[in-house]
Amino acid sequence: MLIKNIKQLIQVREPGIRFLSGIEMKTLPTIENAFLTIKDGKIDSYGEMKDCPSYDGGTIDATGKMILPSWCDSHTHIVYAGNREGEFVDRINGKTYKEIADNGGGIVNSAKKLQATSEEDLYEQSRKRLEEVIQMGTGAVEIKSGYGLTKDAELKMLRVIKRLNKEYDLPIKATFLGAHAVPGEYKDDKSGYLNMLINDVLPEIADEGLADYIDIFCETGYFTVEDTELIMAAGKAHGLISKIHVNQFTTIGGVQAGVKHGALSVDHLEVMNQEDIEVLKGTDTMPVALPSCSYFLSIPYTPAREMIDAGLPIALATDYNPGSTPSGNMNFVVSTACIKMKMTPEEAINAATINGAYAMGLENEVGSITIGKKANFIITEAVNSYGFLPYSFGRDHIDSVYLDGKRQVFDF
Ligand code: NIG
Ligand code: FE
Repeated sequence: MLIKNIKQLIQVREPGIRFLSGIEMKTLPTIENAFLTIKDGKIDSYGEMKDCPSYDGGTIDATGKMILPSWCDSHTHIVYAGNREGEFVDRINGKTYKEIADNGGGIVNSAKKLQATSEEDLYEQSRKRLEEVIQMGTGAVEIKSGYGLTKDAELKMLRVIKRLNKEYDLPIKATFLGAHAVPGEYKDDKSGYLNMLINDVLPEIADEGLADYIDIFCETGYFTVEDTELIMAAGKAHGLISKIHVNQFTTIGGVQAGVKHGALSVDHLEVMNQEDIEVLKGTDTMPVALPSCSYFLSIPYTPAREMIDAGLPIALATDYNPGSTPSGNMNFVVSTACIKMKMTPEEAINAATINGAYAMGLENEVGSITIGKKANFIITEAVNSYGFLPYSFGRDHIDSVYLDGKRQVFDF
């Protein structure tokens, strides 16, 4: 397939880039008036129109439109059952997220719903969300368990993630987040719960190849830094690298623990102190910001400006989940990063593509227009410049999306 007359081909990179840090994030390489060819689902060649090869097969004329690599959403909880709009209204009426969780709402509420939902029904609910985010330009995604909180329900979630990965044309990474909250049955026995996860659930997950990564909610009132180190070490013993929830509400040393254990990413980071920023410098651990979560819960935004100016990389992801972020719209994430976190459009697009790919171990497959990478890309509507995309917030400006070079169209 040939796409010709592309007004601007965005995020064109040579192979071999792992991620971009600090000042590197300010540059977004583009080609004006470009062509792109796709072969066997991969990017085969690209360049300026004056060098466009002649081609008899399928051709798309993209006059006035831009092409950029699909969004890489490295942190989601797309597999869940039901919704929690009641808690949303409770928060409007003055309750806090913590008060709701302390009274049987929150993660435990979603776990109850999920335990009572059949695997087939859970797949159906999740499939719709996945199709929705593909339509909004996401072309690679990480999905966590963590709304099961029993062995059966956690395995059910991971099997649904595996099935989604098989049925859809985008790469999906699965993360085991059994340590998302302590379920009621273990209310006074957190270490019993962790032991069950480590000795009973984790070996089965590893045997069946149901997860790529391991996660834990390291937060005051949930799991301590000690718990976090225990889970990360157990994951590593089963070949699972960690990607962890840290610093959402309080800074208690989770970032340091993540770096110490070679976490692939540390995510949330709404509350960061100087030591948290310092310890990330020069490491392979990607800091991941989730601005839609800050927006929905009215909590601080990750201090991305300060972090990038300190030389750190940043990835952007949605956190799509029923409690803190009922939205999987990466276009909104990119806009919000620009508007609220003072990231430039170049920084935000780098953070939502190549750096997001790295944060789920997919930097050699997706995240840039690079020969040999998957042909997962977005064709925009006719727009003046890529800066228009985050500027004109609240809706996407997508004409069509492609995964493995195939146009994705779903009925809703
Ligand atoms: O990433 N912070 C922990 N977990 C989810 C939200 C949990 C929920 O409220 O369901 C998050 O924001
Ligand atoms: Fe999350």
